[in-house]
Amino acid sequence: MSHDDFPTEQPAVVTCGLPYANGDLHVGHLRSYTAGDVLSRSLRKLGQQTAFVCGSDMHGTPIAVNADEQGVSPEAFATQYHEQYEETFPQFNVQFDNYGHTHDETNTELTQSIVRRLEDEGYVYEKEIKVAWDPIEDQPLPDRYVEGTCPYCGEHARGDECDEGCGRHLEPGEIEDPVSTRTGNPAEYRERPHRFFEVSELSEYLSGFLDRLEGTSNARNQPREWIESGLEDWCITRDLDWGIDYPGEEDLVLYVWVDAPIEYISSTKQYSERVGADEYDWEQVWRETESGEAGGEVVHVIGRDIIQHHTIFWPAMLEVAGYSEPRAVCATGFVTINGKGLSTSRNRAIWAQEYLDEGFHPDLLRYYLTTMGGFQQDLDFSWDRFQERVNGELVGTVGNFLYRSLLFAYRNFGGTPDAELSPEVEERIQQAVDDFSAAVNEYEVRKAGDAAVKLAQFGNEYIQRNEPWKLDDDEAAPVIRDCVQLAKAVTVLIEPVAPDKAEAAWAQVGGEADVHDVTLDAAFEPPAAAFDEPAELFEQVEDERVEELNEKLAERVAETASGDDTDDGTESDESTDADEADVTDELEPLLEDRIGFDDFEALDIRVGRIETADPVEDADKLAKLEVDIGVETRQVVAGIRQLHDLDALPGTKVVLLANMEKAELFGVESNGMVLAAGEQADLLTTHDDAEPGTKVR
Ligand code: MSP
Ligand code: ZN
Repeated sequence: MSHDDFPTEQPAVVTCGLPYANGDLHVGHLRSYTAGDVLSRSLRKLGQQTAFVCGSDMHGTPIAVNADEQGVSPEAFATQYHEQYEETFPQFNVQFDNYGHTHDETNTELTQSIVRRLEDEGYVYEKEIKVAWDPIEDQPLPDRYVEGTCPYCGEHARGDECDEGCGRHLEPGEIEDPVSTRTGNPAEYRERPHRFFEVSELSEYLSGFLDRLEGTSNARNQPREWIESGLEDWCITRDLDWGIDYPGEEDLVLYVWVDAPIEYISSTKQYSERVGADEYDWEQVWRETESGEAGGEVVHVIGRDIIQHHTIFWPAMLEVAGYSEPRAVCATGFVTINGKGLSTSRNRAIWAQEYLDEGFHPDLLRYYLTTMGGFQQDLDFSWDRFQERVNGELVGTVGNFLYRSLLFAYRNFGGTPDAELSPEVEERIQQAVDDFSAAVNEYEVRKAGDAAVKLAQFGNEYIQRNEPWKLDDDEAAPVIRDCVQLAKAVTVLIEPVAPDKAEAAWAQVGGEADVHDVTLDAAFEPPAAAFDEPAELFEQVEDERVEELNEKLAERVAETASGDDTDDGTESDESTDADEADVTDELEPLLEDRIGFDDFEALDIRVGRIETADPVEDADKLAKLEVDIGVETRQVVAGIRQLHDLDALPGTKVVLLANMEKAELFGVESNGMVLAAGEQADLLTTHDDAEPGTKVR
């Protein structure tokens, strides 16, 4: 691996956290899979050789427990979900080059060979530990079969994770007051021999690794704290029938988190074997070079709940077994629903299948999930905001620009007019391409998507400014030539986020080759001299649809909640949902990442006074405000129309972020951002009489 900018000489592999084959996929999962897909497509746009791989996580106690309850074998249970996922991902245009699963031969063999290597290198030892035991059933109770109290924070904890409290990984025997989740019997701890991997010996290596690691800052900061407070060795075996056998042991299987990440390698290997090592060589990627250098560019995309596994346990295994260390770990925030934690058990979720059944195009959700907020931040999903983003940016900006410019070109010229591309437009496209490349190198999928949308916004301004409809054909030709080039460039840049829509737009501009394969250079290549009449790419999401969808969701959550009284505990629940703690239900969790005073100083926040407040045409939720901020008066668009009586607003003092990037919403420029609290957009104001323009610090 290098730390050179992409594209590099080495092949890259992008992976996504493997979904547990344990339940239906929802919008929370989709966030990380779309992010991974957008990242891998974006890397290819840069000309980076990239494989995108994943697979189903078939093992672990929750799967064994659920299979048990349904009276089927864990293998049959997991396989059924595995097959479902294989079908679902392509429906969201999440195109893995290989999608395997952890129980297949490739992964079983590779896992056992890696474990043997850990043993050979002297990093594994046997130790008697206390294992929870159901004394009545006379059975061991690994992980999810046991619940009790977290020894670190005192919260209720289940299995191998304190998922309602401090979030720590829990070793066997750590849960206090254990109870069997199967029978409800109080459990006792019995001594059993298990195997441990000496992670504690690797602190120094891991510290260095974290210093080199790219990706999101949360994936470096949290593990640094864990290392500082001292790493414990890691129990890598379980008393369970379901899993990959510990080499040479009949009664033990490997802990699911040993074989799960190894599937990243196995899946790459399967891909390589399918296309041939000449085209893509998994060993070049995953094997360390002779000099101990890492091979290819390994990029992991995960949710923030599994940072510890990817930045401590996993690199520790790779290091000892002689494989490449990851170049980057990108950990997304969680998805919340209407401001509350996504909860599978309460049915407060948007399910992947449900979204498709509603008839929405997958690219709309991809756009929402990858560009809605900062990568590390939790991301709230609501149908209202979905509508706002689709109608505003996809329909209003991107679709509108492509349609009007291509239609003009088609009607007046039958395609691209014969004229020179203007230097202004060429430079603007270059800027978008540079922004895109920089974004990919920072692993910022949102900014990559923004580069496309902003270019379309420029296109709309350009066409508006030049008014080709007022010109004769000779005069209009250069303007339209520019517009078609812009349309082509927007199409290339938006492909990673909206691959299907880009394919349609590409056909409209008469693009050659395959838009999924072309690199960024294609943005500058001359568009086709002749093309057919274009069609509109995106459809508005209507208000009635949103109302209906909101009602459906609310009803469903209410129904599930009323059923809670008779909760029989059989619900299949995901450990990873940040959902269960009732107290925090209403509030977003605090951000872990601290910012410096400099970061704060970068915000120019001012006191302002609203002078006028008017509705924005065609946008039910938006208001256009004129805000006096002392030095000048700012026009700001705010999503407060339904929440405030606009007539009552003039004279109100507000707090305004003055150096917010300008934006265009429904054709209205917004130059600043008015600060407000919560879903009800409670406007922030001042307590005393600070004058407009006063700086907030
Ligand atoms: N099987 C493990 C990962 C093994 S990786 C070697 C796992 N599975 S999971 O099904 O619980 O989650 C799959 C992926 O989706 C993970 O990257 C996880 O972080 C992500 N998410 C699951 N629920 C999520 C949200 N509600 N929000 C955002 N991401 C979420 O963990
Ligand atoms: Zn805890």
